[in-house]
Amino acid sequence: MERLTAYKKQFLTYLESQKWPTKPAQLYAPISYILNLGGKRLRPVLTLMSAHAFGRKSESALPAALAVELFHNFTLLHDDIMDEAPLRRGQPTVHTRWDNNVALLSGDALMIASYQALEPYPDSLHSSLTRLLSQTAIAVCEGQQLDMDFETSQGVTEAAYLEMIGLKTAVLIGCALQMGALVGGASLDAAKVIYQFGYALGVAFQIQDDFLDAFGDPKTFGKQVGGDIIENKKTMLFHQAVQLGSNQQQEALLAHFETHPKKPAEKIKVVCDLFETTGAKKACEQKVEDYTTQALQQLKTLAISSEGKSEFEQFAKYLMSRSF
Ligand code: IPE
Ligand code: IPE
Ligand code: MG
Ligand code: MG
Ligand code: MG
Repeated sequence: MERLTAYKKQFLTYLESQKWPTKPAQLYAPISYILNLGGKRLRPVLTLMSAHAFGRKSESALPAALAVELFHNFTLLHDDIMDEAPLRRGQPTVHTRWDNNVALLSGDALMIASYQALEPYPDSLHSSLTRLLSQTAIAVCEGQQLDMDFETSQGVTEAAYLEMIGLKTAVLIGCALQMGALVGGASLDAAKVIYQFGYALGVAFQIQDDFLDAFGDPKTFGKQVGGDIIENKKTMLFHQAVQLGSNQQQEALLAHFETHPKKPAEKIKVVCDLFETTGAKKACEQKVEDYTTQALQQLKTLAISSEGKSEFEQFAKYLMSRSF
């Protein structure tokens, strides 16, 4: 944990040293707002950790770590519009505090700034990093569109869900690690393995995010609890409940996932009860553990120091135990 905290601190110092223009205020104030709301900073920590694991000073990966975190924050501004989310990191979302247009444009600027963050790198490294970021960015768009499509489609399979979360979430975790590996001078093979580790970890991470969305503590979660249920998201909890529930439970669940009540409290309660009584809640926790174990398997083949491996393991364990 100490190492994780040290990487986070190193990243935050770098983030704070970046000066943003102040005008136009409607463009830059939301950027400062979202970046100052905190967040776990998981992705930049992974980038720094990865560069270190491959034998470079983590410092050399700071610009890449910044690029990943800026990109992530850009996706959040747009995601919160798409999900009609009122809260982010315990505070009003940018589009509710300002408006949709502001959130769209500030998001765009953040995305462009994420590419600019990579400019300090020499040409050949710069081009590998931007290629990876662009590939990842397109995948995230595909995942986000599938996520939206699935809100209104019936018959979404668990396999389709896994593909969707791979695209919207896991690729960026893979990218964060692979960027660190590229900066760290890893071989092509090793860079691929670390990406696979990140991808599997990202799948576990999104399933845990789905879990917390229904069962998180409103005091610590920082987002609207039940938001996925309101939006009829076919999350891992939903898939497990459909698979494990009786015919009657299945029917009740499917019926709820076609409604959009103005006052959703009752729907959230009934659906959460179904998630519990069908065994979906438990199954979901097990899935998080399984994908995390699967991720850690990838590390076995990597020729990095035992210290490096242990940092990744600690990180994976921390992710499983998180409450926000
Ligand atoms: C939220 O990511 C978006 C998902 C992919 C689930 P985080 O949970 O990493 O958000 P912050 O940055 O810590 O707020
Ligand atoms: C987020 O998925 C994926 C991206 C932001 C690309 P969610 O919609 O589940 O993330 P949260 O729960 O709003 O953070
Ligand atoms: Mg969302
Ligand atoms: Mg979303
Ligand atoms: Mg979520």
